[in-house]
Amino acid sequence: MKKVEAIIKPFKLDEVKDALAEVGIQGMTVTEVKGFGRTGGKKEVYRGSAYVVDFVPKVKIEIVVPDGMVNDVIDAIEKSAKTSRIGDGKIFVMPVEEAVRIRTGERGEDAI
Ligand SMILES: Nc1ncnc2c1ncn2[C@@H]1O[C@H](COP(=O)(O)OP(=O)(O)OP(=O)(O)O)[C@@H](O)[C@H]1O
Ligand SMILES: [Mg+2]
Repeated sequence: MKKVEAIIKPFKLDEVKDALAEVGIQGMTVTEVKGFGRTGGKKEVYRGSAYVVDFVPKVKIEIVVPDGMVNDVIDAIEKSAKTSRIGDGKIFVMPVEEAVRIRTGERGEDAI
């Protein structure tokens, strides 16, 4: 299993959710976050020289999927979240050791 974590523009959330539903994901967690990437947020000159980097509101999506679905999930997010303007976001993928569906006691891929 892998966790796909995507940081996207908030107004893209519905589009991304629909694209993920088409791929067949079973569940997801969404959190309002703020951050900045390589290009920073809003850059301002501060006292003549230094830069101040502001945090920009984003939405973080977390989806745990079987290994075989990872590429489809990445493609779906990439296509639906893209505006080609700065700040479109990032996708990170990490291994997941275990999952438990609390109601039934199922474990592993059966739990997701
Ligand atoms: N290296 C990182 N680690 C953790 N979070 C990151 C990282 N890079 C970006 N993020 C998160 O993703 C959000 C969007 O990043 P963003 O798309 O602005 O990246 P970028 O590298 O600046 O690319 P762009 O040039 O398209 O703006 C950030 O606000 C931050 O929340
Ligand atoms: Mg940026």
